[in-house]
Amino acid sequence: MVEPYDIFEYDVLIVGAGGAGLRAAISAKEAGCSVGVICKSLLGKAHTVMAEGGVAAALANMSSPDGAKEPDGWEVHFVDTMKGGAFLNNWRTVEIFTKEAPERVLELEQYGAVFDRTPEGAIAQRPFGGHKYRRLNHVGDRTGLELIRTLQDKAVGTGMNVHMEVTLTKLLLNDGRVVGAFGYYRETGKLVVFKAKAVVLATGGWGRMYRFTSNSWEGTGDGLMMAYEAGAELLDMEMIQFHPTGMIWPPSMRGILVTEGVRGEGGFLKNKNGERFMFNEDYTPALYKGQFAEEPEEGLRWLEDKKNNRRPPELLPRDVVSRAVYREVQAGRGCEHGGVYLDVTHRGAGYILKKLPSMHEQFHALGNLDITKEPMEVYPTVHYTMGGVRVSPEECATTVPGLYAAGEVAAGLHGANRLGGNSLSDIMVFGKRAGDAAAAFAKTQNSHGTIDESQIETELNTLLDPLTATEGENPYAIHQELQEEMQKNCMIAKTEEGLTHCLETIISLQGRAKRLKMSGGRIFNPGWHAARDVRFMLRTSEVITRCALLRKESRGAQWRIDYDHLDNEYWGKHNLISQKDGDAVKIEARLLDPLPPHLKVLFEETK
Ligand code: FUM
Repeated sequence: MVEPYDIFEYDVLIVGAGGAGLRAAISAKEAGCSVGVICKSLLGKAHTVMAEGGVAAALANMSSPDGAKEPDGWEVHFVDTMKGGAFLNNWRTVEIFTKEAPERVLELEQYGAVFDRTPEGAIAQRPFGGHKYRRLNHVGDRTGLELIRTLQDKAVGTGMNVHMEVTLTKLLLNDGRVVGAFGYYRETGKLVVFKAKAVVLATGGWGRMYRFTSNSWEGTGDGLMMAYEAGAELLDMEMIQFHPTGMIWPPSMRGILVTEGVRGEGGFLKNKNGERFMFNEDYTPALYKGQFAEEPEEGLRWLEDKKNNRRPPELLPRDVVSRAVYREVQAGRGCEHGGVYLDVTHRGAGYILKKLPSMHEQFHALGNLDITKEPMEVYPTVHYTMGGVRVSPEECATTVPGLYAAGEVAAGLHGANRLGGNSLSDIMVFGKRAGDAAAAFAKTQNSHGTIDESQIETELNTLLDPLTATEGENPYAIHQELQEEMQKNCMIAKTEEGLTHCLETIISLQGRAKRLKMSGGRIFNPGWHAARDVRFMLRTSEVITRCALLRKESRGAQWRIDYDHLDNEYWGKHNLISQKDGDAVKIEARLLDPLPPHLKVLFEETK
């Protein structure tokens, strides 16, 4: 017999209160549905704030060298995003995204977001990696924060219900349809069930299985694994983004994001010899040859808005820059603490304080360093997960009826590598679409489905066994071992040998994690929470590693140094993941959908 639990009932349940969740909540409320939003932590504390440098949308306010209008548009943004994603993207998802992003950004402004302005009063845009034009609409280096603030104000005003500090661990199914979710209050350990006619997952990414990441403690893959265990398909889980510039010093701050906005505002990457190593032509992939400056003066002229010059190579896409940083360090040209230098001092203190105030504050407070006078030390950090739950482009529907997913937890838009700034527009475009679709689905349901107590009971046993066990392993110790292994063998440069070792370690850790032990009770017990989290992380890591092993090519964020080439012939495919009967992971190769003629032509038109 299951112990008593609280029950809430909504038309639409939204799991996650970052940008995608809040935008979905606004839509579902506007469609007339009752909406409950679940936060693992507090409302407003979301990984959305980690997209600091801007929200990408082809508003074309500053797309020409002179600041006058030149044809940026969805078509160019489409081409950039597909190229950036090494063509593993779902083209229809990218088409919707690039067409709708400008509208969503303008809507944000109507909701009250205060963007930086051009002298003419338009929204100011800055350059970012892989974007052909200045396309990052920004609020200094605090864009994600402004976005969350704005959406939160708007969403709270719609009358949604918010449940904070609740961890959900199980989606509840009835006749193959999602009818709610089960979990516990983090503070008290009391159980709670949310009944819903439709559920939107907006739980973000899962960087916490790595030692150095920009992700906060919530990023343990719960939403992803709940979907997987409910029967949803996953896609391309090997595609993990290493943002080229995470803090590396002091050691306790390692992994914290240093916004790409620093390079967008003209920052240089340098090795210990003071060389701007991104000019090394070996670092520019064939796809980008001839499009980036080949000498520093040319790159500078581009930044200074002079005509007919090419972008500095520091603005190549993130996968390219991360590999270059890695290779510089491996070649012994790294800086004192094992990274490279990111130098923006030449832009002057006034400019830096205006455009990058948070970075100035971050380095001052955490590293005792004045970035207007000294270069920063940086190294790639795990930042984003391009793979995730497979969803339909139009409705963000998963393969499980009643279950929708939007934002980082969903796959398809970014392919093998996301362009900076595309995450914020992603959560706006597809948060809205998921909210609309979930509301429409909820309206087709006459009643809430039946809750099957046996599903709750099974999950409750999993949750409680570390507290009742007389002996077992410490989940923190297992988490730490997992992080060390993933950091070592499933990082930027991957090999068969390293990945095989990683997989063996994960399987062994999974065995040990069957017997966890935590002292104390359920009240205020983070150790108990860690026990559930670590099981989710182990399974997620297993899927990532298996996919990385299978894909014997290099594409986007997947860099196999033993298969150092892009293999369209064989690997023009997705890794499609599902749970087999029982516990095993099933991975099939699924051919990419070919580009239709109306999109293919864009690659010629935009050269
Ligand atoms: O570097 C950044 O500001 C991060 C942006 C993003 O991930 O989109």
